[in-house]
Amino acid sequence: MLAYRSSLVGESLAIQNILNTIEKVAQTDSTVLITGESGTGKELVARAIHERSTRKDKPLVVINCGAIPAELLEAELFGHMKGAFTGATQNRVGRFEMAQGGTLFLDEVGELPLQLQVKLLRVLQTRQFEPVGSSKTVEVDVRIVAATNRDLEAAVQQKEFRDDLYYRLNVIPMRVPALRERKSDIPMLISHFLQQFNQLTGHAVEAPAGEIMEALMVYDWPGNVRELENLMERLVILKGHGTVDLGDLPHRVFQKFVEARPAAAGAVSDWDYPRMALPEKGLDLKAIVDAFENHLVDQALARTQGNKNRASELLQMNRTTLVEKLRKRGMIIPVGKKTTLMAQAAQAAAGAYAGATPAEVGSVMAQASDSDLSIHADTEAARSDRAPEVTN
Ligand SMILES: Nc1ncnc2c1ncn2[C@@H]1O[C@H](COP(=O)(O)OP(=O)(O)OP(=O)(O)O)[C@@H](O)[C@H]1O
Ligand SMILES: [Mg+2]
Repeated sequence: MLAYRSSLVGESLAIQNILNTIEKVAQTDSTVLITGESGTGKELVARAIHERSTRKDKPLVVINCGAIPAELLEAELFGHMKGAFTGATQNRVGRFEMAQGGTLFLDEVGELPLQLQVKLLRVLQTRQFEPVGSSKTVEVDVRIVAATNRDLEAAVQQKEFRDDLYYRLNVIPMRVPALRERKSDIPMLISHFLQQFNQLTGHAVEAPAGEIMEALMVYDWPGNVRELENLMERLVILKGHGTVDLGDLPHRVFQKFVEARPAAAGAVSDWDYPRMALPEKGLDLKAIVDAFENHLVDQALARTQGNKNRASELLQMNRTTLVEKLRKRGMIIPVGKKTTLMAQAAQAAAGAYAGATPAEVGSVMAQASDSDLSIHADTEAARSDRAPEVTN
């Protein structure tokens, strides 16, 4: 991860509300409980509260309650005396005392073990505690900001979190919405991250536009702003300069984009074709393109009951080109011969393949070629423009 300090970026109403709330709560010492999914920016909000408060020149101490083993957490929070437990070779101040005069950010507070919840409750009520192994009460002036991505109300219902502590923490609740709930922030966040990473690396990746931006807007971002930030870092490092292509996007982003496009209607733009993502291991492009072409040709023949003039018009190609394609596939053979042909495709209604990927089309075509349906021969010379007739 390239390192830099970010401020809260965003223009959605949700972010504007959060910025307003930060301004108001920063002027107080009230306890704040920040909730939101992982990667939404809870820590950034906590930092912003501290930095805008009168405590900004005092420490902001962060402790992740979920990352420290339960048996060490008490000493970590409240400090310990020399000899209080094995390995306590000297007195040590805890995070509460380190934050004296400043702010203590209790991250992942939902993970706090029940026995520590009681002790924390008392500090919130009295601003007093005793370090582990000490009978001397320590008094602190610390502002508490807590965060969690857990549903604390549900945890209270399940008796995993004390309700009295929950109400003490939840004096000022702040919910940071998921990025999918404020997609209007995405373009601004992208510009912001690209600018930061370009500056840090000396690279020059341009802000995406058009279909790329559309794809980034359609995606749901389950990892929220962190996922978006990581993708921008990756693009800047791997791409180096220039514009981002659809092929640079992770498979999951591309896939979502492809799924969200409206169904084919008239085949005018690149994206009105049946869509498939390029498999990781690659594919046989010629075979796929041939299968796709055959699929459309067969639909045109089916729709025009085998009239090659009208089918070629539908496909916007010369009749001779169409005939040549059919000849190559063995669908036009000398008069008098009868053969097993891919008649299933000609017989199929146009809708039968609608929405199929080229791979699916290929497999249907392969089955068709094995079918025992046969058609009468047609010749270009005869110019009958009749459908290849199915005789059995
Ligand atoms: N609005 C924003 N503007 C700029 N950067 C943001 C914004 N929101 C989040 N970020 C960035 O996204 C990353 C994740 O944010 P943060 O660590 O604050 O999320 P979190 O909610 O605490 O996540 P977790 O629950 O996983 O701890 C950070 O690098 C942060 O700088
Ligand atoms: Mg966090």
